Amino acid sequence: MINRITEEQIQNQREYAAKVRMAVNAEAALRGAPLKFCVVTYGCQQNEADSERLAGMLSDMGYIKCVSEQDADIILVNTCAVREHAEKRALSVTGQYKHIKEKKPSLMIGVCGCMVSQEHRLDDIKFRYPYVDFAFGTSYLWRLPSIIYERMKKKKRLFLLDAEDDGCIAEDIPVLRECGYRAWLSVMYGCNNFCTYCVVPHVRGRERSRYKEDILKEAKELIADGVTDITLLGQNVNSYGRGLYEDYGFPELLADINALDGDFTVRFMTSHPKDATKKLIDTMAECKKIAPQLHLPLQSGSDSILKRMNRHYTLGSYKELVAYARERIPGITLTSDIMVGFPGETEEDFEQTLTALKDIRYDMVYSFIYSRRKNTPAAEYEDQIPEDVKGERFRRMLDVQSDIGLKINEGYIGKTVRVLCDGESKTDVSVLSGRTDGGKNVCFNGKAKAGEYTKVKITQARPFVLIGEEI
Ligand code: 5AD
Ligand code: SF4
Repeated sequence: MINRITEEQIQNQREYAAKVRMAVNAEAALRGAPLKFCVVTYGCQQNEADSERLAGMLSDMGYIKCVSEQDADIILVNTCAVREHAEKRALSVTGQYKHIKEKKPSLMIGVCGCMVSQEHRLDDIKFRYPYVDFAFGTSYLWRLPSIIYERMKKKKRLFLLDAEDDGCIAEDIPVLRECGYRAWLSVMYGCNNFCTYCVVPHVRGRERSRYKEDILKEAKELIADGVTDITLLGQNVNSYGRGLYEDYGFPELLADINALDGDFTVRFMTSHPKDATKKLIDTMAECKKIAPQLHLPLQSGSDSILKRMNRHYTLGSYKELVAYARERIPGITLTSDIMVGFPGETEEDFEQTLTALKDIRYDMVYSFIYSRRKNTPAAEYEDQIPEDVKGERFRRMLDVQSDIGLKINEGYIGKTVRVLCDGESKTDVSVLSGRTDGGKNVCFNGKAKAGEYTKVKITQARPFVLIGEEI
């Protein structure tokens, strides 16, 4: 029932990879130095996971990873389309690569991911960025070897929008993970929900689940590799298994992963509130290896806005589920996505969102200003909100949430939490950073190394981070 790429297609790509590798190695021998790649990623965790596969394929083709685009022989920009801001950044960065290519004409530049899965953006790249060698939509990801090979041989630029077999699941792609102890594990791809603001169903195609055997095999390999923290990924993990199995869904998958041997933690994102069930919460409560963490995007506290967003739940049903989760999993970290300025959002609707934030009291909220996306229904709604009103609501929401986050975090002062250390903090190298089992950010003084679990006594709180000392 599910479409999976065939052994033959996989083999085919391996052969292309081998041909590219020969060319890359020959060039490296001439230069006396290896050829290098750089993958630049925008957007969500799914994109980060995809980029690790792009990197895996590039390594397989003989390139070695480098940090700076200036040193690269091939640059791939993996783009996001969820908001205009992300598209603008990717386009502007791609624009700057022109200067690198002027100095190094052999540089190959590719643009891929959600942004270029939209025809108008693919055309933008094709016509306005003549130094870009190729661009391809999300369904072409696993065909990177043949794309690079074609470009090397035919000298023709390539622009690929939707593959004929769009919707296929590609297994067995090489992967080069960024981190040794944390890993992404995709359980499904695409989305069928068509929230009226969202471009994702248009750029990532219909929902499709991987076979449970493939997921469990990958989980086992990660654990054997020393990964202790696995994040399961999907646009809506709660519809896992739909169209594939009769009686096997996300809770069953969680239970099966929980039953694997080894010391590890599993978390997941994203859960759509309309599909999150008590059974999911029960499974989380019963399975020791599942993190006490739930990301459950509310989007808006107004039922009429939720309806116009096509979200299929109400604030009431949402709150019931949250109450159940908190009862079954005391201390659970609860986070959300909130959007302000959706077309037609009145001051009253917005205040309902603020009230919802105060009632629900999230540990953390990812907040967004509504961004009009081409080809989505909400883009055509007439009652678009002026930018200044959106901005003002956004700031008010941040203020409210920041107070709540701070109060919740102050409740941790004096407590000791288990933290998975991520090494030096990116913003302040004099301290270490890490995350609690519930996924809360912690900055601390101590000696732990990246990848080690340690105990931290919390001494101070900020809206987005706990601060403490290793004990
Ligand atoms: N504008 C603003 N935010 C958006 N999101 C999705 N589409 C848009 C849009 N058009 C937000 C939603 C979603 C998160 C991943 O991004 O809150 O949950
Ligand atoms: Fe977009 Fe809604 Fe699908 Fe999430 S569930 S990816 S917000 S359409």
